[in-house]
Amino acid sequence: MPDQPPRVLTPDGRPPEDQPAWRRDFPIDTAEDAYVARRDFTKFMVLISGSFVAGQAWIALKTLGGTDAASGSRAIARVDEIALGQAAVFHYPGEHDSCLLVRAPDGQFLAYSNKCSHLSCPVTPDVKAGTLNCPCHHGYFDLATGRPLAGPPRRPLPRILLEIRDGTIYATGVEERMA
Ligand code: FES
Repeated sequence: MPDQPPRVLTPDGRPPEDQPAWRRDFPIDTAEDAYVARRDFTKFMVLISGSFVAGQAWIALKTLGGTDAASGSRAIARVDEIALGQAAVFHYPGEHDSCLLVRAPDGQFLAYSNKCSHLSCPVTPDVKAGTLNCPCHHGYFDLATGRPLAGPPRRPLPRILLEIRDGTIYATGVEERMA
């Protein structure tokens, strides 16, 4: 008995010869189509999961790596430009990475990324209160350590490492901290 050509499964179950002309011109086997779609979906999910895992690994490496030594050293201000209790904005390590340099009342220089660790709003210093405040959701950070004190933030602000040489303040690295 000669082989019968494979029967195409149509979406509405009627035989192929009862289908509209456009469907007869471009017949698609519904069952096969669903099978291919499932396979494609699985490939897509594997690809997305792989990308997700790679992204998480990259973030973990960056976060747990501690100080970003590759940032380099950059002059950000002169000591005599910042009075006690004053603050200045600078950018480090990139030109879009906004940071705060604060001179505490005891003369110590402190610097942090001024991107809130909750949802990245800019924080502002309240030197008298000893805090860095985020106006978006009332987040508060300790000025001395950058650790969260109140509100939604759970992670400290990244600390900018500083060095003072010949009256000039240099940013020398970024210390990311999980807690
Ligand atoms: S963005 Fe700072 S508290 Fe939400």
